[in-house]
Amino acid sequence: MNKYKALVVRETDDGFTREIETVGRDFLPDNDVLIEVKYAGLNYKDALSASGNKGVTRNYPHTPGVDACGLVSESRDERFKPGQEVIVTSYDLGMNTNGGFATYISVPGDWIIPLPQGMSLKDSMIMGTAAYTAALALHKMEQCGQNPEMGEVIVTGASGGVGSMAVSILKKGGYRVIASSGKTEYYDWLKDIGAKRCVNREEVSDDSTRPLLSTAWAGAIDTVGGNTLSTLLKRCGRNGSVATCGLVASPEFETTVFPFILNGVNLLGIDSAETPYSLRKEIWKRLATDLKPDTLEKMVKWVSLEEIPSYMDEILEGETTGRVVCVIQNP
Ligand SMILES: NC(=O)c1ccc[n+]([C@@H]2O[C@H](COP(=O)([O-])OP(=O)(O)OC[C@H]3O[C@@H](n4cnc5c(N)ncnc54)[C@H](OP(=O)(O)O)[C@@H]3O)[C@@H](O)[C@H]2O)c1
Repeated sequence: MNKYKALVVRETDDGFTREIETVGRDFLPDNDVLIEVKYAGLNYKDALSASGNKGVTRNYPHTPGVDACGLVSESRDERFKPGQEVIVTSYDLGMNTNGGFATYISVPGDWIIPLPQGMSLKDSMIMGTAAYTAALALHKMEQCGQNPEMGEVIVTGASGGVGSMAVSILKKGGYRVIASSGKTEYYDWLKDIGAKRCVNREEVSDDSTRPLLSTAWAGAIDTVGGNTLSTLLKRCGRNGSVATCGLVASPEFETTVFPFILNGVNLLGIDSAETPYSLRKEIWKRLATDLKPDTLEKMVKWVSLEEIPSYMDEILEGETTGRVVCVIQNP
């Protein structure tokens, strides 16, 4: 491979440009494994990277894309053979290493998960970092004692990528799910993918100064942050877990110690990017088996590489639903 096609974000005097370009192999880093990308999932972080967010990507030109899957093309790592089906998500892919919105990526072997049995390449990208994050959240909650008998679990930002996967994964895990969403027109869809009932996101944002409120859920997966996270803690039942994944409303939140010392609530931090490899493999295995959503095809929009920039704008506006996956080349 001497040349390949990529979405390239460039920094100019007037801001950041996003164009599909044909670039030379030297645009890629020289890592041990070259992968021919088949599908790449779109995440909120990719849109931040493409708009010049230096907290995500320091240097440009750059190709975003934190989720990719495909076939090993060349390998200096004996664990991987040409033709092997693999998944790469998170670590530094798409942040400061050129990412998945391209026909090739070059990554260290330690970032690669062999495609688990029971999962197709398409499945892996419909799920991507979104499902991985949601499954990691549930895994940690269960390690802290969460179980379906404790009662309903609420998911915030439920129509988004992580949120919709969390709804579907919790349902698969035997939980009754409350979906909190700002998009009432998507309530039927949320029920279709696993929610027992839906609530408006405003109901999960309490403006009182009361440190605790009557119990409304037994646990939560939160993608929103801010006052929503404060409210989730105030209204969580005894010994329940609240997993914090995202910050679409705000990275800041206020709380008191009372949910923790009077109700035994656990606040769990979810960091999908740097999970140890053995745990990462275990979570992907669960996503291929006991936590694999039954509703994947209802949760995806397939798009071309050329369409990705406009979906990046939509995801920043909170307007996308489910997962947007780019077909890089048909297998
Ligand atoms: N911790 C990790 O490892 C990890 C991994 C992946 C993503 N994340 C984070 O998780 C968050 C969600 O990512 P995503 O890819 O799922 O994004 P997404 O697809 O854009 O979903 C976000 C959803 O949040 C809701 N929302 C948007 N703006 C809001 C606001 N101002 N107030 C309340 N709700 C709002 C919307 O859902 P409704 O209309 O249904 O309410 C939206 O669909 C992001 O902050 C992302 O950075 C973290």
